[in-house]
Amino acid sequence: MKEFETLKINTENLLNQYKNIRAHSEEICRPLEIEDYVVQPIVDVSPPKWHLGHTTWFFETFILIPNFKGYKEYNSQYNFVFNSYYETVGARVVRTDRGNLSRPSVADVYRYRAYVDEKMEAFLQIGDLKEDLISLLELGLNHEQQHQELLYYDIKYILGHNPLFPPYSNKVVFEKKEIQATEFITMKEGIYEIGFQGEGFSFDNESARHKCYLETYEISSTLVNNADYLHFIEDEGYSDFRHWHSEGWDWVKTQNAKAPLYWHFIDEKWMYYTLNGLQEIDPLAPVCHINFYEASAYAAWKGMRLPTEQEWEAASDRFNWGERWEWTNSAYLPYPGFKKEPGAIGEYNGKFMVNQWVLRGSSDATPKNHSRKTYRNFFHPRLQWQFSGIRLVK
Ligand SMILES: [Fe+2]
Repeated sequence: MKEFETLKINTENLLNQYKNIRAHSEEICRPLEIEDYVVQPIVDVSPPKWHLGHTTWFFETFILIPNFKGYKEYNSQYNFVFNSYYETVGARVVRTDRGNLSRPSVADVYRYRAYVDEKMEAFLQIGDLKEDLISLLELGLNHEQQHQELLYYDIKYILGHNPLFPPYSNKVVFEKKEIQATEFITMKEGIYEIGFQGEGFSFDNESARHKCYLETYEISSTLVNNADYLHFIEDEGYSDFRHWHSEGWDWVKTQNAKAPLYWHFIDEKWMYYTLNGLQEIDPLAPVCHINFYEASAYAAWKGMRLPTEQEWEAASDRFNWGERWEWTNSAYLPYPGFKKEPGAIGEYNGKFMVNQWVLRGSSDATPKNHSRKTYRNFFHPRLQWQFSGIRLVK
């Protein structure tokens, strides 16, 4: 039922799209104190300052330098600082060291953004862009939107691991969704088509569209909520190896895991850190910040399982989605007919198709119009800091 409209770009509105998306990244950072921009508490969390610089570097490196005649690179050292993982584009600061960079300063990074924005706007005003350049711009905009979501994850981690538990904001950050009754939707066995088709932007990993055969299954219309998940905790779910994969059980023991990320048992009550600060658990909110091991263990404890990504996509028009990225039981692999683009852009998705698990849908933190039912997000199964949840299948 719920599907985001694909972000549709034409040359007339390209400039407005660019301005709006670029401004939104800065809006997300507006409540931060200057110190919040710089720290990197774990390798997976990048400093907000780095996200602001890296998304700017993307436009400068892939659009302006090769295509805008007479463009002068802002600072040739920034390629080393803000390249994330593009081997094609050269050496870069190691990921674990992003938080060690006191320079460029936050002010420098904002100046870098302003410079690149001014040039991008001048470039886009010329108009008459070739199709492959429009595709690259669309990729740059979708890339910045992915980093907007990462900014929420990383800001939450930075503030939520500070002993003072400072709120990110005192205003509502994400609107609460209406609570729906849970039912299991029956999907009949048969051949279904999976993957992107049609107009508008999609990532290369959503192609090629192809057929798959599914056995009959029943999928929940709602996500597992905090009250449901609390039953698993109280039933000693984290102490019973039978629910867990071997790797998951190792993770439980080495991390001494007892609850989702951000949960704290304080004065006989379960509390959790939210972007509004430390709060009592909302029992009806969908559980969040669980990794694949936890999602699988919960499903096993219920005597059910997670959907495959094919099952999820085939059924996705029949339930509401969009509050949590939903762990699937599918490894992140190329679809039949998947093709890597030549050059640096070919490094965007394809090279991560090993040891990652697919998540479907979108989350409260996903920018509007960014996701669609064929969107394939992916994370390593141990990771919890993304806004991830559980939908069950039986
Ligand atoms: Fe990136």
